[in-house]
Amino acid sequence: MRVGVVGCGYWGSKHLRVLSGIDGVDEVAGIDPSLDRLDRVCRAFPSLRPFIDLDAALDHIDAVVIATPPRTHRALAVAALRAGKHVLVEKPLAASVADAETILVEAAAADRVLQVGHTFEYNPAVWKLREVLELGELGDAYYLHSARLNLGLYQSDVNVVWDLAPHDISIINYLLGATPVSVHAWGASHAHASLEDVATLRLAYKDPDVTAMIHVSWLDPCKVRRVTVVGSKKMAVYDDLLTDDRVRIYDKGVEHIPATDLHAVPMSYRYGNIVSPFIVADEPLYLEDQHFIDCIRSGGPIRTGGANGLAVVKVLDAADRSMREHRTVHLRAHELDEQPALSPGVIAPER
Ligand SMILES: NC(=O)c1ccc[n+]([C@@H]2O[C@H](COP(=O)([O-])OP(=O)(O)OC[C@H]3O[C@@H](n4cnc5c(N)ncnc54)[C@H](O)[C@@H]3O)[C@@H](O)[C@H]2O)c1
Repeated sequence: MRVGVVGCGYWGSKHLRVLSGIDGVDEVAGIDPSLDRLDRVCRAFPSLRPFIDLDAALDHIDAVVIATPPRTHRALAVAALRAGKHVLVEKPLAASVADAETILVEAAAADRVLQVGHTFEYNPAVWKLREVLELGELGDAYYLHSARLNLGLYQSDVNVVWDLAPHDISIINYLLGATPVSVHAWGASHAHASLEDVATLRLAYKDPDVTAMIHVSWLDPCKVRRVTVVGSKKMAVYDDLLTDDRVRIYDKGVEHIPATDLHAVPMSYRYGNIVSPFIVADEPLYLEDQHFIDCIRSGGPIRTGGANGLAVVKVLDAADRSMREHRTVHLRAHELDEQPALSPGVIAPER
C-alpha cells in the first residue's frame, strides 16, 4: 500500500517515521508546499517520495494522512475521498461542525475509511484507565479533571481549545463511553491579539451523570499532561509526562460520618496504598497508523471514525459559543458505540 502524508511539519514528520516502519506499507510519500520541510523529511527518510501538493500525489497513493493546520482539513479530505483514497485526518477533524459533517458525507459516498487522529484513544495508559473505571475499581465517578498546559506552542489558525482540548474531550468521551450534554467554557486571549490562549471547559455528562473539567493553556510556566478521575472508592491519575507509573490508583477517599461531636467536621479520610498497574509500552501513534492500515485492508470497525471526530468538533464548537456568549451551551448526548478493535486490557497487536 502507498500512503501519503499531507503536511510534513511537526506531527506529519512523526507519521512519516511511523508509517515507514509499518508492515504492509510499501511506499510513503511526503506532501508539503514548503520545499524546506520537504527537503528536511527527505533527508531523514531517504526512500520518501516528495510532492508539493496533494493533486500531484493522488495518482501515486492509495491512502493519505492529513497533518496540516485544521482549517485546511476539509478541502484536503474531500479532495482525497473524491479521488477514492482512504483518509486519516489529524485532530481536530475539521475547524467547524459544517466542515466535519461534509467530510463524513463524502467518506460515506466514497465508501472509504475515514479515521480521526485521536491519538490518546490508542494509548495503552488511557485503555488502562477505562478498564479500571469499567471494572468499578474507582466506584462511581464523582468528577474528572484534565489539564494540558505549557508555554506555547501558539497556533496560527485555531485557539487553544481547538488545538489542545480535542485530546481531553476524546479521552473523557472514551473513558465514559458517552458525549456531554452541555458545555460551559471560559477563555481569554492574553499574549495573542485575538486567539484565546487559556481556557477552561466544564462538560456535563448525563449517563453516567458526571462532570468533567478541562484546563488548556499555551501560557503556563509548567508542562502538564494529566487526567484525574475521582471516584467514590478510589482515585486515579494518568500523568502522560511520566515514563514509569503513568497511571496511579490511589486508595484514598473521604466519607461522611454521623457527627459525634458538635465541633468536629463529620468527615473521615482514608489514606491507603498507591498502585501503579502495568501498561504496555507501545507507541500510540504506531498503534493508530497500524489500525488505519488494518482497517483499509479488512474494512473492520474503525476505532476513532468520523462520528467520533464529529462528536469532538461539536464540543469544541459549543465551547467557542459558550466563551463568546457567556452561557452554557446544550448538546444532544450520544453513545459512542464505535467498536474499538483494540480493547482496553487486551494485548496490543504485535509489531
Ligand atoms: N494527534 C496528536 O497528538 C497531534 C499532535 C500535534 C499536532 N496534531 C495535529 O496535526 C496537524 C498539524 O500540526 P503540526 O503541529 O504538525 O503543524 P505544523 O505547522 O508543524 O505543520 C503543518 C504543515 O502543513 C503544511 N501545509 C499547510 N497547508 C498545506 C496544504 N494545503 N497541503 C500540504 N501541506 C500543507 C505546512 O507547510 C506545514 O509543513 C494539526 O491538525 C494538529 O492539530 C496532532
